[in-house]
Amino acid sequence: MSRAASPPSGLPPLDAESAAHARTVRDHLAREIAEAENGFMPFEQWMQLALYAPGLGYYAAGNTKFGADLPSGDFTTAPELTPLFGQTLARQAAQILALSGGDAILEFGAGSGALAASILPALAGMGVFPRYLILEVSADLRARQQERLADHRDRVTWLDALPEDFSGCILANEVLDAMPATLFQWDEAGRLRELGVRLEGPDFAWAERPAPAGLASIVAQRMPPLPGYRSEINLRAEAWLRQMGGWLRKGAALLIDYGFPRAEYYHPQRAEGTLMCHFRHHAHADALAHPGLQDITAHVDFTAMADAALEGGLDVLGYASQARFLMNAGLPELLMACAGNGAGTAAAGRAMSAAQKLLSEAEMGELFKVLAVGRGIDAPLMGFTRGDRRGRL
Ligand SMILES: C[S@@+](CC[C@H](N)C(=O)[O-])C[C@H]1O[C@@H](n2cnc3c(N)ncnc32)[C@H](O)[C@@H]1O
Repeated sequence: MSRAASPPSGLPPLDAESAAHARTVRDHLAREIAEAENGFMPFEQWMQLALYAPGLGYYAAGNTKFGADLPSGDFTTAPELTPLFGQTLARQAAQILALSGGDAILEFGAGSGALAASILPALAGMGVFPRYLILEVSADLRARQQERLADHRDRVTWLDALPEDFSGCILANEVLDAMPATLFQWDEAGRLRELGVRLEGPDFAWAERPAPAGLASIVAQRMPPLPGYRSEINLRAEAWLRQMGGWLRKGAALLIDYGFPRAEYYHPQRAEGTLMCHFRHHAHADALAHPGLQDITAHVDFTAMADAALEGGLDVLGYASQARFLMNAGLPELLMACAGNGAGTAAAGRAMSAAQKLLSEAEMGELFKVLAVGRGIDAPLMGFTRGDRRGRL
């Protein structure tokens, strides 16, 4: 399969600075592809470099634009939308801290620092003062987080590597979807092909090769060989979760992301996969466009994540839609308090509309899920008391 990689029409034009950065990233990627075996770069490596190549990748070069109100922003996440999200998570985090006896929260991929900025004051309001650790792969975002969280300097520490031993609460909001995924396609003869990128003159183009035997065997265990069907598998995210079993001594991780259980993920009708790119609030599926300037994501196969946690020796503690989780963990009460304090004000109106986005089935409420995995947690977690869908994983 080969598809020209010109940017999809309809994307906003690049300003001079962005265009110059895009050229530098393209040159770097082109050199890497030229040096790759048979001139083929597996998509997973493309996604890794396009997002995380130091000083170049989307998350690593100051290009990440979070923000609901920013016309030039690329996408909005729940903690950016409203502090109510972090305030609600704080309630669940407090319960996990109490049940685990741990004194720390560890957030992966903290973005602009918005989640920490809403959780820490909410916990303080409950008389809970944990250490707050952040593990962030992007040096640029780490610097932004340090600036944003300057007022919480005494509580927050940035880690350079995974801890050897951890007890407490782990948070990862929209991190699994940002981990590089492997792209595959079944051919007409029922053989698995791995998709990647090659050079076609000065342009990037899609390419394919026979999938390595290991990949073919894993995919074949998860879905039937549907001719022409293309999708993703996130082996890195699975490895990350399996590895958590080695360092999480007692506590739970809340993994929040968009995705589905396996039967829906590899549904015959989802024949083009789930790859999604974001550029200045435009969502499209061309992962070869604007490398270094756009976000690239793949939805999460939550069955694979739960299985990886089990393989790592962890328990699966809950799985629910974001709407159900937030309702269970007390968002309605927080919203009522917020509306009561400032009834009729613009702030109360904004809070109400943000809560609607978090909860609505048509927005983030149903597509986003919360998976809790952990060890040594003996009581039900409050976020899953109703609507726990573990049975569907
Ligand atoms: C889509 S952003 C989400 C940011 C933030 N959690 C939010 O909800 O606004 C993905 C974040 O995950 C980070 N990230 C990706 N892979 C990671 C990993 N393996 N460990 C830690 N952070 C990671 C990125 O650098 C970025 O900060």
